[in-house]
Amino acid sequence: MTLPISQGTFNTHMGSFSSVFREATLDDVAGLAEVQVSSWKTAYQGKIPPSYLGGMTVVQEAKEWIRILQNSTTKTILAQQTDKGVVGFVNFGNYRDDDLPKDEVAEIRALYVHPEHWRKGIGKKLTELAIQDCKKSGYKQLVLWVLDSNESAQLFYQSLGFQLDGGVKTDGRIPDFELRESRFSKRL
Ligand SMILES: CC(C)(COP(=O)(O)OP(=O)(O)OC[C@H]1O[C@@H](n2cnc3c(N)ncnc32)[C@H](O)[C@@H]1OP(=O)(O)O)[C@@H](O)C(=O)NCCC(=O)NCCS
Repeated sequence: MTLPISQGTFNTHMGSFSSVFREATLDDVAGLAEVQVSSWKTAYQGKIPPSYLGGMTVVQEAKEWIRILQNSTTKTILAQQTDKGVVGFVNFGNYRDDDLPKDEVAEIRALYVHPEHWRKGIGKKLTELAIQDCKKSGYKQLVLWVLDSNESAQLFYQSLGFQLDGGVKTDGRIPDFELRESRFSKRL
């Protein structure tokens, strides 16, 4: 297990709880995959074809996490509650497309919180830790892509000072279905 980067106590209407924030390792792939699949199935219901969501499995996503953690240059910070395991994560690194300078622009590639833990401040804390890390690495701007149909995430990013910057693209990972995305950006 990696050393905590941060520790936080969150006060909610359900009471207060504490989370540790630390860099993910290969021991965490099942927890990361579980958060990702639960979050996708809840957040994207009605926005992404049910056949695609229904086909997502923790085993498949865990394999993908092994690949990401072993091979990628990105960083993954997770939130862990002692009694509940992984409850959220953020994965970030250099910007992937070619229309912005990769040495100046970082990208949040994935940010997911388990639906049972939405609206407790975990997503905000994970984003703040990504911002802190990107600043330390010398990046000048942080961007991310959000589905046009994902209004909750858009409101979340706007609340943290991200703004639409005019970038748009269509993701073709789902056969016969267009995922339209817009880019949000924040100066660091
Ligand atoms: C988007 C997501 C990461 C936000 O994480 P979270 O831990 O629930 O968000 P936080 O509790 O840190 O919210 C911080 C602030 O963002 C805003 N916000 C968060 N969710 C919101 C929503 N559904 N509607 C409106 N504003 C919202 C609020 O201002 C909130 O502060 P408040 O609760 O004090 O009012 C989480 O909801 C999630 O995993 N969603 C599904 C996956 C997803 O959409 N990921 C982003 C893909 S690009």
